Amino acid sequence: MTSPFSLEGKTIIVTGASSGIGRQCAISCSHMGAKVMCIGRNEQRLQDTLAHLAGDGHAAYSYDLSQTHGIAGLVADIVAAHGKLDGLLCAAGIERTAPIKLLTVQDYAEIMQVNTFSAFELARHATAMKHFNRGGAVVLIASITATIARTGTAAYSASKGALISAARVMAAELAKRQIRVNCISPGTILTPLMQNALAQMSDEDRARRVAGFPLGLGEPADVANAAVYLLSEASRWVTGQNLIVDGGFTIQ
Ligand SMILES: NC(=O)c1ccc[n+]([C@@H]2O[C@H](COP(=O)([O-])OP(=O)(O)OC[C@H]3O[C@@H](n4cnc5c(N)ncnc54)[C@H](O)[C@@H]3O)[C@@H](O)[C@H]2O)c1
Repeated sequence: MTSPFSLEGKTIIVTGASSGIGRQCAISCSHMGAKVMCIGRNEQRLQDTLAHLAGDGHAAYSYDLSQTHGIAGLVADIVAAHGKLDGLLCAAGIERTAPIKLLTVQDYAEIMQVNTFSAFELARHATAMKHFNRGGAVVLIASITATIARTGTAAYSASKGALISAARVMAAELAKRQIRVNCISPGTILTPLMQNALAQMSDEDRARRVAGFPLGLGEPADVANAAVYLLSEASRWVTGQNLIVDGGFTIQ
């Protein structure tokens, strides 16, 4: 019997695939049988990701997602070369930590462009009738900072909150084609980026951050496993949701 979590025969775009959570999502999707279209900025690191994928038929597309005007063409190129899509996972993201008094419109614009508008544009073009198979799924990586107040993250949290709000509407609009749209909100995940950030914190701040997670800090695989679920038939009746994957942080 085929597992409901299988991604066999599916073609899935993964953004942010050159590192951290996106890279692990690409790897995990490939292990579940998907053909993965990896998008990121750094060609060399995308090639490293490709080298870690199971199976064949995968591809890498080096693209700066802040250039939202080119996303329609990028999606069209991928579909022309690899066929219609069954999944889209948006993990590309940037963070800028600063108190509200230091954040400028430029900061908001840059963060929104990558974290939010590129995901909206990808969802718009990828789910077009000619590009996306009935029954496909979209997963947007948000953050628990969209629902809790972590100081210094006003711009970032707004960019992620917008994903959660829009995903609900996209889910309602696309349900008639049996396309599902969900978010995952991770807590602190030990990606290379986060390990650097933790290393720069004072011992006291780092200890406080770690102690906030009843199950300890997360691993990229914790998010990737949730993504596999939301991209697979196992979640066929789940849409418009924000799945919090945070080791119990937000239940306290
Ligand atoms: N690590 C965490 O604790 C954590 C927690 C909550 C949410 N997230 C979210 O998870 C996602 C992945 O984060 P990560 O920790 O793996 O960070 P990361 O920096 O390792 O990965 C981010 C990825 O986004 C890509 N990216 C950034 N700007 C881009 C652009 N303009 N065009 C194309 N690609 C671009 C990078 O190349 C990289 O591959 C992000 O959206 C982040 O906001 C992370």
